[in-house]
Amino acid sequence: MSHDPGQGPESFPRTISATAHPSLAVAKYWGKQTGAINTAATPSVAITLGAIAARTTLTVDCASEGDQPCRDQVVLNGVSQDPRRFRPFFDAVREVITLNCPHQDGGSDQAGECLFFTVRSDNDFPTAAGLASSAAGFAALAASALTATLGERPPEEISRLARIGSGSACRSVYGGFTRWDAGAPAAEQLYPETWWPDLRVVVLPVSSAEKPLSSRDAMNRTRDTSPFYDAWVADAPSLAGETREAIAQRDLERLGQTARLSYLRMFSTMFAAAPPIMYWLPQSLEIIRGLEELRRMGLPVWETMDAGPQVKVITDAAHARQVAEEFRDLLVSPAIISEVGPGVTVGTASDRTV
Ligand code: ADP
Ligand code: DP6
Ligand code: CO
Repeated sequence: MSHDPGQGPESFPRTISATAHPSLAVAKYWGKQTGAINTAATPSVAITLGAIAARTTLTVDCASEGDQPCRDQVVLNGVSQDPRRFRPFFDAVREVITLNCPHQDGGSDQAGECLFFTVRSDNDFPTAAGLASSAAGFAALAASALTATLGERPPEEISRLARIGSGSACRSVYGGFTRWDAGAPAAEQLYPETWWPDLRVVVLPVSSAEKPLSSRDAMNRTRDTSPFYDAWVADAPSLAGETREAIAQRDLERLGQTARLSYLRMFSTMFAAAPPIMYWLPQSLEIIRGLEELRRMGLPVWETMDAGPQVKVITDAAHARQVAEEFRDLLVSPAIISEVGPGVTVGTASDRTV
């Protein structure tokens, strides 16, 4: 996390930029506890992917009297977004600001209620397609909103706020290996990005289309209708524990095997939902079969998938290129070989290079 904007509290508007990376779960968050905003029913363990990013520029300004109550605007990849998707998030930002405001006597310009946000963000990878754009996007948004209004804040606070926007975003605040426990308000870093230098994730994009059903709607439907849901939630903690041990030991085979169990058990709950949820494409299954064959030949390659058709392969530096080549004909854009990446970074608008 970087610096304070270095301006006085009165000097609105203020612009801050932030960059964050998707959080790829190897033990999945799938299901929310009822009665709380984006509070996980299952513990998740994830890797921050350095090779792809969301880049956000946020301006905060103080509304004058008589302005409309909600003036927040988000333009994502050049397209103006439905403000309803972002309202709970920005309301939570305003609440945090008000709580941190030294003068809550109603007349202060610092009170969060008067602030509104104008945001431009661009993802350098397919959005809403199962590559955790919501994770990178809301981590960048939370960091830029807090920095622009309150200056540098602890990552735990950014993580808590990012979670309001999207559950997986609380993990993207941190680099390296992360955990987000069931019921927890924020994620934590398990190990920094330097922990396992030889680890690689190969992202195989088989479609760039937006998913027909958001992760949120899919996981709520699963919870509400899948007869396998309770079994999934009951089983998840032991799988997450195994995953953490595999990372602690830098044991690639164990990590790959537990990651496969986690995503396949997650999808099993979705297939059993009503109506059923099926994010896979024929190419996804072809890659899954192809990887089975490569493992039979002795290659250290294990896949995981999220709410979308893309396949991500967990492997090491020596085999990443071969995986990328192997499935080239099935991809809509070149494979992305990623190392374990850093957490969110914040700068003034002039630092922005995109
Ligand atoms: P994904 O698998 O990409 O995470 P989700 O269904 O979880 O898909 O979330 C996609 C939604 O996340 C988008 O429709 C948008 O509302 C939000 N989102 C994606 N990227 C960004 C971004 N860079 N900044 C802000 N919000 C974003
Ligand atoms: C399959 O975090 O996108 O990628 O909290 O409703 O915004 P909301 O959902 P989101 O769900 C991610 C689901 C997943 C698994 C994971 O990242 O752990
Ligand atoms: Co998402």
